[in-house]
Amino acid sequence: MAGILSARGGAATTPSLRSSRRCGRCEMGHDGSMRIREADSSDCAELTRLVRTSASYQGEYRVMVADMTITAEQVARDDMLVAEADGRIIGFCSLTTSGGEPELDYMFVDDDVQRSGVGQALWTAVVARARARGFAAMKIVSHPPAEAFYRRMGARTVGLVEPSGRVTWSRPLMTISLDHRD
Ligand SMILES: CC(C)(COP(=O)(O)OP(=O)(O)OC[C@H]1O[C@@H](n2cnc3c(N)ncnc32)[C@H](O)[C@@H]1OP(=O)(O)O)[C@@H](O)C(=O)NCCC(=O)NCCS
Repeated sequence: MAGILSARGGAATTPSLRSSRRCGRCEMGHDGSMRIREADSSDCAELTRLVRTSASYQGEYRVMVADMTITAEQVARDDMLVAEADGRIIGFCSLTTSGGEPELDYMFVDDDVQRSGVGQALWTAVVARARARGFAAMKIVSHPPAEAFYRRMGARTVGLVEPSGRVTWSRPLMTISLDHRD
């Protein structure tokens, strides 16, 4: 079900891209407004494109996203949130419990709008959603270059996930406490 998130859903969000940084790197010609909404199955192709073209996953990291596909099943199952500006999807994230505990499954911002506040807005929305679901903490297996972002968002590194399968590198295991007193 698509729609701008309500407070009941965990976030009421119509933030603006940070004007001080958006114009030099962004080709959209947008007015700076952004909305965060729930993903719809019709978004799958665009979300898949966003993942597969991420410049952060080049070189040895490429194997991780090369054939990654965002499916309608994931959209239906998980809390998948999309950041949109001027009708263009510029980022998304998802919260899943498919692995048995609350986990941030995806967090991607399009290359040309990174460092303009989109990731933070998505983070705020997904944390609100996790809190609304009553979770005490959310796990993150971080892409190594993104660890500093998650730390900036308040997450803690609590370990390392060892390489396995085609993932030949270690990844920081992180957690964010969702305790309302924090
Ligand atoms: C990681 C990612 C989601 C961050 O999104 P973003 O929109 O660029 O982040 P924001 O602009 O909202 O940044 C929020 C804060 O984090 C900081 N930050 C963002 N990326 C950072 C990084 N790589 N290193 C250090 N700080 C970072 C920003 O400077 C900003 O800090 P400030 O509030 O002090 O100015 C984005 O870079 C991305 O999509 N990367 C590629 C995909 C990826 O690795 N995803 C993670 C998968 S686990």
